[in-house]
Amino acid sequence: MKMKQFNLLSLFLILINSFGSANSTIVSHDERAITIDGQRRILLSGSIHYPRSTSDMWPDLISKAKDGGLDTIETYVFWNAHEPSRRQYDFSGNLDLVRFIKTIQGAGLYSVLRIGPYVCAEWNYGGFPVWLHNMPDMKFRTINPGFMNEMQNFTTKIVNMMKEESLFASQGGPIILAQIENEYGNVISSYGAEGKAYIDWCANMANSLDIGVPWIMCQQPHAPQPMIETCNGFYCDQYKPSNPSSPKMWTENWTGWFKNWGGKHPYRTAEDLAFSVARFFQTGGTFQNYYMYHGGTNFGRVAGGPYITTSYDYDAPLDEYGNLNQPKWGHLKQLHTLLKSMEKPLTYGNISTIDLGNSVTATVYSTNEKSSCFIGNVNATADALVNFKGKDYNVPAWSVSVLPDCDKEAYNTARVNTQTSIITEDSCDEPEKLKWTWRPEFTTQKTILKGSGDLIAKGLVDQKDVTNDASDYLWYMTRVHLDKKDPIWSRNMSLRVHSNAHVLHAYANGKYVGNEIVRDNKFDYRFEKKVNLVHGTNHLALLSVSVGLQNYGPFFESGPTGINGPVKLVGYKGDETIEKDLSKHQWDYKIGLNGFNHKLFSMKSAGHHHRKWSTEKLPADRMLSWYKANFKAPLGKDPVIVDLNGLGKGEVWINGQSIGRYWPSFNSSDEGCTEECDYRGEYGSDKCAFMCGKPTQRWYHVPRSFLNDKGHNTITLFEEMGGDPSMVKFKTVVTGRVCAKAHEHNKVELSCNNRPISAVKFASFGNPSGQCGSFAAGSCEGAKDAVKVVAKECVGKLNCTMNVSSHKFGSNLDCGDSPKRLFVEVEC
Ligand code: GAL
Repeated sequence: MKMKQFNLLSLFLILINSFGSANSTIVSHDERAITIDGQRRILLSGSIHYPRSTSDMWPDLISKAKDGGLDTIETYVFWNAHEPSRRQYDFSGNLDLVRFIKTIQGAGLYSVLRIGPYVCAEWNYGGFPVWLHNMPDMKFRTINPGFMNEMQNFTTKIVNMMKEESLFASQGGPIILAQIENEYGNVISSYGAEGKAYIDWCANMANSLDIGVPWIMCQQPHAPQPMIETCNGFYCDQYKPSNPSSPKMWTENWTGWFKNWGGKHPYRTAEDLAFSVARFFQTGGTFQNYYMYHGGTNFGRVAGGPYITTSYDYDAPLDEYGNLNQPKWGHLKQLHTLLKSMEKPLTYGNISTIDLGNSVTATVYSTNEKSSCFIGNVNATADALVNFKGKDYNVPAWSVSVLPDCDKEAYNTARVNTQTSIITEDSCDEPEKLKWTWRPEFTTQKTILKGSGDLIAKGLVDQKDVTNDASDYLWYMTRVHLDKKDPIWSRNMSLRVHSNAHVLHAYANGKYVGNEIVRDNKFDYRFEKKVNLVHGTNHLALLSVSVGLQNYGPFFESGPTGINGPVKLVGYKGDETIEKDLSKHQWDYKIGLNGFNHKLFSMKSAGHHHRKWSTEKLPADRMLSWYKANFKAPLGKDPVIVDLNGLGKGEVWINGQSIGRYWPSFNSSDEGCTEECDYRGEYGSDKCAFMCGKPTQRWYHVPRSFLNDKGHNTITLFEEMGGDPSMVKFKTVVTGRVCAKAHEHNKVELSCNNRPISAVKFASFGNPSGQCGSFAAGSCEGAKDAVKVVAKECVGKLNCTMNVSSHKFGSNLDCGDSPKRLFVEVEC
């Protein structure tokens, strides 16, 4: 008897060991869905990248995600942020991954950990550390011993950190899935047979780490078993996993798009995003993740590229600052609630589809207990009136109606009842005008004139090979002796540089020759400008500036950066052109700029260099200049931004912390924006874009946690191109106005986001028309004065909810049978 007890106990212990803890969760999958403790689940997930916000923002972002109807948070893990130098790790502050996952757990949500460690993500170098590239015989993402060793080392490190804190579901933690690699299927063919061998190795390596939950590989058809393949894109309804026992999963539903310097603002409508989600669930999907749910900010130099902006707002349901992006957030929330209520039929029900003609399909999911239906109209222009199970339904073009009981339409993706919030910048009382001090980028003259650097090489070198990406800036300097008899000597001589520098500044004998700024993706170009040279020794200095390292594409790690040459002097004598190639000369290199190396932005160094900052003759439009000013933090809790209009290009720090690169002088092109945005038809990142001919990014997020509430704060600017800091202003972002266009028989909720509703600007129940800001009454209106009805319900309150009905707003026979709507605009 005793013996038997012992055996049972050891069996129990073995079980606990293999799953980590007694309250472990078993995550698995079958052909239909991810199963959690044996139950098939509908999982609604959203990406939030922990380093793109500050850790004090995490609880609020996660709770807004939960409130928006999500049950899972997905994040990548950012290798180059965590291992900036080989075997030196950083998991502090906003990089505290364990704390982030625990915050998700604390909110009662699941998490998907996309370790990568290649992540793409518009993150610098796709997440790879540049030291890795600079190891001998290195090749990324293929069969290469050095690479595989480092990738395995980092992946194991992350897995072990999670295990130590019992964060995998198998240990009772929130992580239900982990990802290895990222979209390798998109590039695998470029790697030949080694590509296949590499992805097999990835699968084996991941598998051997024994995490107790499934691994996924996104965009990886025929993923090696037991990896689960998943889809990424604006739509994944047409996606079918190549493995019939894989469930249909969507790891990246792009909620908008990222921005490039010189690009416009992307905008994906709530209608289209909801349509893509509803279509996915109509067609058998069970796991869906929004990429991004909160995009956030590329602080410091983490923006990828080339040319990814500091803002990574992404037009996501939560905006860069963490505010609800309405109506997107609310319109999706309603859909989530319904999908969750349909979980059993969607995951266990029999599926039948009925073709209703003209690209309209009804799908019935039925179990013995409950049936749920969708009616989808994928026609991009024609609305449909269809008869389904004996009832008529009006399904607008490019929309899906959701009928949780297969009878009543509870939701249509194109009928938005959620308010639109117009976010505005609020001028703060403090400070009115900043008092700036400035100083030149010191000893630049020494560099430019004398060419003194930190290392010497014969020939031209690739920028990242030399800098290890420790700085955006690299000086290339050489001397050239010209005597009177030199064949190139002429009245008309020029400097010709073949370059991949994102921005190039050229100097000859201490004088500025000119610059080249890459536009329209022409990253490989020839710069040529006239130069004044002298008999004797001439000094040439070329400043190469990088604006985010490439993050996507086969072999992206080995793409050229900096000035790869040839660099020539060219003499023009009549018809004759004579070239002098300097590419093989001796070149001096200087990494970074002195002000950066001396940390002029840091609070610690401020005192030390105090005397060199001047209040006299504040220059505007002076290249390579540092500016500094003190300011008081705006009162309250609203998110803070700094308006950098008037500046050129550079980097900005608040109290020593970099809030990123700035470039407000870079306008988007005047073309490609339309007044009207039609949600119907396929979305692409250019569709419905706005802000043509305007700075791509004028406002920069200043996280509250970077500021001292009391006492003074310091802003430091490094201005590379030349700009005027006198217009720089701190502001807060608030909800300025709120509009809604709600449909009859629904509820409308209005909220000014923690501020009271102050006035009703417009309200009409009937057939009003127009856009928010220019609503107009139609030919029929309810009998009651809608403005008064709304004012009574809402003015002075933080939020209000009203039924959109004739009962509330009075009936009106003139409207006939046509469906009525309430258009309303309130001031905050
Ligand atoms: C995907 C990639 C993501 C992100 C996205 C665009 O291809 O997996 O990391 O780069 O594109 O935002």
